[in-house]
Amino acid sequence: MQFDNDNVSIDVSIKVEQQQSVNHVHKEGDAQRLQFDIITLFPEIIHNYCNSSIIGRAQKQNIVSINTVNPREFTHNKHKTVDDTPYGGGAGMVLKCEPFYAALESIERKENSKIILLTPQGKTYNQELASEFKNLEQLILICGHYEGYDERIRQGTDIIEISIGDFVLTGGELGALIITDSVTRLIPGSLGKEESFHDDSFSSDLLEYPHYTRPYEFRGMKVPDILLSGNHKEIDKWRRTQSIKRTYNKRPDLFKKFIQKEISKEDRCILKELGF
Ligand SMILES: C[S@@+](CC[C@H](N)C(=O)[O-])C[C@H]1O[C@@H](n2cnc3c(N)ncnc32)[C@H](O)[C@@H]1O
Repeated sequence: MQFDNDNVSIDVSIKVEQQQSVNHVHKEGDAQRLQFDIITLFPEIIHNYCNSSIIGRAQKQNIVSINTVNPREFTHNKHKTVDDTPYGGGAGMVLKCEPFYAALESIERKENSKIILLTPQGKTYNQELASEFKNLEQLILICGHYEGYDERIRQGTDIIEISIGDFVLTGGELGALIITDSVTRLIPGSLGKEESFHDDSFSSDLLEYPHYTRPYEFRGMKVPDILLSGNHKEIDKWRRTQSIKRTYNKRPDLFKKFIQKEISKEDRCILKELGF
């Protein structure tokens, strides 16, 4: 079936799902520990964020540990200098190799670990990467600042370069926090209710369905009656339909990915009802 969206033409070739996917069921004692080691010149930014709310609780429950290492502590001059002017001239200050290498080498590497260098030049971060990283024992995140890194900081180690989007920030701390937050919430036990992230946007190439809470009516806008029906099978179907509809409308690129994968019998019915 062929249909057009504003700027995409999508070839809908629906594949029948061969196997039902099995949701992970969290059991008591299932908690795993992932260690984040964040190399940053501004550790207070990391700790201010990570010590509160869900990430703070995940640390208290030993689901994750979040440590910072400051390259400034590895300098040997009076002013604790971590940057210098660029060879060849030009504006801005460049982060020096020695303190960053020393900071990295001070961290004890676990077997199942990765080193990530935050840079606008890296691979764009997404939910798929978050899901991959949650299975690691250790994630080492390097935050840049000023004009960026001496090129040899990129070259000398087995780093993965990650960007959080096509824009330039003043430092890598927000990127490190985005990765730390999005990975932590995928680890069993970190969210209050285990199911909480399964329906999240992007977890299956679909955006999440709409949510409502009391009051039933607000400024003339009512909660859809199906949500008050108590019929959970019909509620699930309504939610799935909404997810599919809003992904088609808001993110045709994701919708295209969704229909190119194997599709369950239930989703095929919904797509048919929606006219696809
Ligand atoms: C001002 S930026 C340097 C940008 C560098 N001059 C360039 O054009 O590639 C300083 C630091 O902020 C971080 N940063 C900025 N934008 C980022 C992005 N989109 N994703 C990840 N990190 C970013 C990086 O750690 C970077 O080294």
